[in-house]
Amino acid sequence: MTQPSPAMVRAAQAAGARMADRNTSFIFNEWYVGAFADEVGRSLLRRTLLGRDVIFYRTQEGRAVALDNRCIHRSFPLSEGLLDGDTVVCGYHGFRYAPDGELIQVPSQERCPKGLGVRNYPVIERGPLLWIWLGDEAADPALLPPHDWLVDPDWVCSKGYFHLQGNYVSLHENLLDLTHLSYLHAKSFGTPDYAAAKFDAEIGEGRFALLRDVVPTTLPPVWAKPTGMEGYPQAARIVRSEFLAPSLHTVAVRFYDNALPEAGRPEFRIRTAHIPTPETHGTTHYFIVHGRDFAQDQDWVTQHMHDGLFTAFQEDVDGMQHLERMLEKTDEDFYEISVASDRASIEMRRYLKSRADAEAQARVPAEEKPVAPPVSLAGVA
Ligand code: FES
Ligand SMILES: [Fe+2]
Repeated sequence: MTQPSPAMVRAAQAAGARMADRNTSFIFNEWYVGAFADEVGRSLLRRTLLGRDVIFYRTQEGRAVALDNRCIHRSFPLSEGLLDGDTVVCGYHGFRYAPDGELIQVPSQERCPKGLGVRNYPVIERGPLLWIWLGDEAADPALLPPHDWLVDPDWVCSKGYFHLQGNYVSLHENLLDLTHLSYLHAKSFGTPDYAAAKFDAEIGEGRFALLRDVVPTTLPPVWAKPTGMEGYPQAARIVRSEFLAPSLHTVAVRFYDNALPEAGRPEFRIRTAHIPTPETHGTTHYFIVHGRDFAQDQDWVTQHMHDGLFTAFQEDVDGMQHLERMLEKTDEDFYEISVASDRASIEMRRYLKSRADAEAQARVPAEEKPVAPPVSLAGVA
C-alpha cells in the first residue's frame, strides 16, 4: 500500500492549518438566520446560536425581539420564565426585562437599579427569515448577504430545517463541491455523469463559486417531471453553487432542452438557499429555502420538488453526521488530500479562518496582546 512521504504529509498538514475546520472560532460579526420568521411568536423561543443562549419572541405589535437568555440575577434561563405583555419575567425571582433588555422591575424591592439588563441583539425580518447580529461591531443592515429572490413574488418557495449533527464549515464545503451528487446522492438527485462534468471556480472577495455544466444529461425525477423532460437524454443542467457569506450559500440551477436552438428555448430556473447557523462546534441549524420561477401556480410542483429535495438533503445531513464523527477523532497524524475540484472550498475555508482569527485577535484585551519589539534605532544617524 502506498503511503505518502513524510514531506507530503507535512505539506498537507500545513495546508490544512491555514483552513477553517470544526475547531475554528466562530465569526460573530455577520448576520445569521436565528429562526424562520414564522417560528417566532408570542412565546419564548430558546435557541443556541454560535454558542450563545438566546431567546426570541414578538411584542404585542408583532416586532421580533432577541435577548440573551441568562438572567443577570442568578443566571436562570429566561426561556423558563414568561412573556408578560412585551416584557419577560424571570421564572426564578421575577426580575422583569423590557424588549430592549433593560431591567425594569425587581419584585423584592421598590427601587429597580438603573442601567442594568440583558443584551438585546439586533434583528432584521425579511421574507421567511429572521436574521440576528451577535457580533461586537455595529450591526449594519447593508451587510446582509444577498437574497432578494426570497422576497420576490416571482419565486415560489418552500422551506425546511435540519438540526445537523455536524459543523458548519463541513456543510459549506459540501455545498461548494457538488461532485458528491454522483455518490452521496446516487439514489436521489445525483446522476453518474455529474462528478465528471466540466467545472470552473470563481474566487472573489469573500465569495466563492463552483460552476458546473452537466450537458447533455438526463435529469433526475425531482427536476425531470416539472420540466417535462422525463427520460430525455438531451437535457442541460447548469449549476452555480456559491458561498455568499458564512451564513448563506445559494445554489442556482438552469434547466433547458439542449437540442433546441439557444434563441427562444424555454429555461427553468430553481434556487436553493442553504443557510447554516452554527449552534456549537459540532452542531448546526440548517435552514433551507427552495424556490422556482416557473409553474408558480402549480402546487403539485412545489410538493414534488420539496419532497424530492428534502429526501436528498437528508442524505447530506446523514453524510455530515458520519463526517463529524470521524473529524472528532483526529489526532496529530491527521491530514487530508485536496484535488482540483476543492479549489473553491479551500479558498472559502482560508477566508473563514482569516476572518475568525482576526475577530479572535480583536477580542483579546490590549494588555494580553504580544507587545511589538521596540524599534531599533541602531545605525540611525
Ligand atoms: S435568577 Fe432571575 S430573578 Fe433570580
Ligand atoms: Fe448534497
